Amino acid sequence: MARTSLIAGNWKMFKTPREAEAFARLLVDRLTIPPGREAVVAPAFPSLVPVAAVLRESGLRLAAQNVHEERQGAFTGEVSAEMLRDAGCDFVIVGHSERRTYFGETDALINRKIASVLAVRLKPIFCLGETLAERERGETLTVISRQLKEGLKNIVPDDIRRLVIAYEPVWAIGTGKTAAPEQAQEVHAFIRSEIEGRYGSDAARRIRIIYGGSVNPGNIGKLMAERDIDGALVGGASLTVDSFAEIVNYQEVLE
Ligand code: PGA
Repeated sequence: MARTSLIAGNWKMFKTPREAEAFARLLVDRLTIPPGREAVVAPAFPSLVPVAAVLRESGLRLAAQNVHEERQGAFTGEVSAEMLRDAGCDFVIVGHSERRTYFGETDALINRKIASVLAVRLKPIFCLGETLAERERGETLTVISRQLKEGLKNIVPDDIRRLVIAYEPVWAIGTGKTAAPEQAQEVHAFIRSEIEGRYGSDAARRIRIIYGGSVNPGNIGKLMAERDIDGALVGGASLTVDSFAEIVNYQEVLE
C-alpha cells in the first residue's frame, strides 16, 4: 500500500502573524502539491487563525507546534486541543525535541498530549529521536523503543490510524548534519516493526513515519527514496517559499 507522503514545515518561533499571513499567501500562490502528497505548515499560535483563513481553499494543511494535555481549565497561558481544532488545525506537533530539552517535556507528558490531540480527532505528529551521546553509546534503538512505548501508552489501535511519527535525531536538528538516508531508514524500519509488534501489520503498513533534522532541497530526494521514510518535518528550510516548494516537489533519488 502506498502511503501518502507528508511534508510539514515547522516555523518554530519565527514570523509574526502579519508575516505568517503574507508568507502563507505566497505559499498558496506558488506551491503545487503533487498527487499522493500532503503539505502542512505549523505557525506559532497567534498566526494559526489568520493562516487558516489563507489556506482555506488550498491543499495546504495547518498544524500547531504544541498543545496542553488537559481538555480545559485554569491553566493560564496554555492552549487546548479543542481550541486548535476550532482554529483550523488538522495536525499538532507533539514532543518536539526543543520541547523536551528546553521545556522539560517527558515521555509521560507527551503521552498525555498525544491522547488530548486524539480525543478531539486531530492528528498528532509525535516526535522522537536520540541525542548524539545516546547514539555514540549505541543506545539509539533502546531510546526510540522507550519513547515509543511510553509515548503511546494506552493509545488504542483505532487511534493509531491518525498518528504520524517524526523521527528526529536531536543531533541533526538545526545543525546542518542530516542523518545519512540509510541511517534514518534503519531507525524508521525499527519504528515500523515496533508498531507492528504492538498494533499489527496493517497499522504498521499504514502509519506514516517522517524524518526531521536539517532536511533541505538537496537531501530530500535521497531520504524519500528509502522505503520506510514517508515524508519530512522541516524547520529552517520551511521558512522560505523556494526551499519549501522544492522540498514539497522532491523527486526520489536512487543511489
Ligand atoms: P531543522 O529543524 O530542519 O531546522 O533541522 C527540524 C525540526 O526541528 O523539526
